[in-house]
Amino acid sequence: MLLAAVAFSLLLPQSANPDWTPETPVRILLNITQDPARTATVTWRTAAEVKNPVAQIAVASPDPRFVTDALTVPATATTMVVAKSSQASYYRVNFADLKPGTEYSYRVGDGGTWSEWVHFSTAQDKPAPFSFIYFGDAQNEIKSLWSRTIRKAFRDLPYAAFMLHAGDLINNANADNQWGEWFYAGGWTHATIPTVATPGNHEYGAVLDDKGAATGKTLLSSFWNPQFAMPSNGVPGLEQTCYYFDYQGARFISLNSNERVEEQAPWLDEILEANPHKWSFVTFHHPVYSTAGTRDNPKVRASWGPILQKHNVAIVMQGHDHTYGRVNVPIGVSKEDAKTGTVYTVSVSGPKMYRLGEAKKSMQRVAEYTQLYQLVRVSPDKVRYEAYTVTGELYDAFELRKNKNGTNRFIAVKVDSKQRLEPEAPAKK
Ligand SMILES: [Fe+2]
Repeated sequence: MLLAAVAFSLLLPQSANPDWTPETPVRILLNITQDPARTATVTWRTAAEVKNPVAQIAVASPDPRFVTDALTVPATATTMVVAKSSQASYYRVNFADLKPGTEYSYRVGDGGTWSEWVHFSTAQDKPAPFSFIYFGDAQNEIKSLWSRTIRKAFRDLPYAAFMLHAGDLINNANADNQWGEWFYAGGWTHATIPTVATPGNHEYGAVLDDKGAATGKTLLSSFWNPQFAMPSNGVPGLEQTCYYFDYQGARFISLNSNERVEEQAPWLDEILEANPHKWSFVTFHHPVYSTAGTRDNPKVRASWGPILQKHNVAIVMQGHDHTYGRVNVPIGVSKEDAKTGTVYTVSVSGPKMYRLGEAKKSMQRVAEYTQLYQLVRVSPDKVRYEAYTVTGELYDAFELRKNKNGTNRFIAVKVDSKQRLEPEAPAKK
């Protein structure tokens, strides 16, 4: 019976499936751009290469006849092997000359097979309040157990300016099915809220020699550049991983903590020095102050730490350690709430968990075995940060205000929830 059903389904042409054909756009992603007030970039893919990849865009309107005003924009295409004997085609379209603070509607396709019309808003071109979502590592059991995190975060902040991922979005850099799970988990939200992504060590895959043996070298996932279109305004050679963009009175910087760390330091210094805005935020994967076990990233700390402090970066958003930790100190790490200084956070959104190390004592708020997401609200006069457990409990919060001398004033916010720590393992006899 089962065999008969399988045989019958194989006889059906693909087009008999109303939800999907080989030309159907999937994995549609709205990407952050250097100037999100005036530009937007969308990426997507199809199973079969289409002849005429295009997008259409119009100012959104309640009148469905807005579609007749849509501008058609050609897309670029790349076809690549995504798994054993299977290919996919990736497309990219850049929308330029958009109006700031405006809601648009777009669709992607090939002129015959189209996505639905998707709404998004451009940023305003002046300082104005906005909010965004920050996730630590998703990485494992992405469909099964990370989906609940991104979906809960979206329900809390459906009009987020963007979703920021601090690396290790997946576990195996070149596993198409894991990227598929990542897109599945966020579903259509990936098309309507821009993604900001920085690569973790798991976005780097082993380089094999001709015989398939490991060379000891690693390379950025071959999926990263076709499916993400992060800005290419950073250190040459690190396009779409080391970059910056400005959003309504704040500058955001992504650094690539996996390679050429020291080379990115002068660029970081320059971009922060030139920041015309009041606030700055930085994201990268490997933490300046590690939270888990005996892990440590001395090169990251030595190369970037002093620059982040010098420019009074508001929050450095990191991942990698599969725990939660937050510390703000002018120099080094101490338990006391410093009143100024960059705030460093490590968080985790997926189910893979480590145990805390020294951070348990030295950081101001920590957690073990807790899936979290963070909502950050930025306005010209203050920043408010809130970390939530995946079940919606406010777990950590603080505010920052700017002092006249450019430093940030840290304001503690009391939360009711108890610190979530695993019981200590019994001492070995
Ligand atoms: Fe990780």
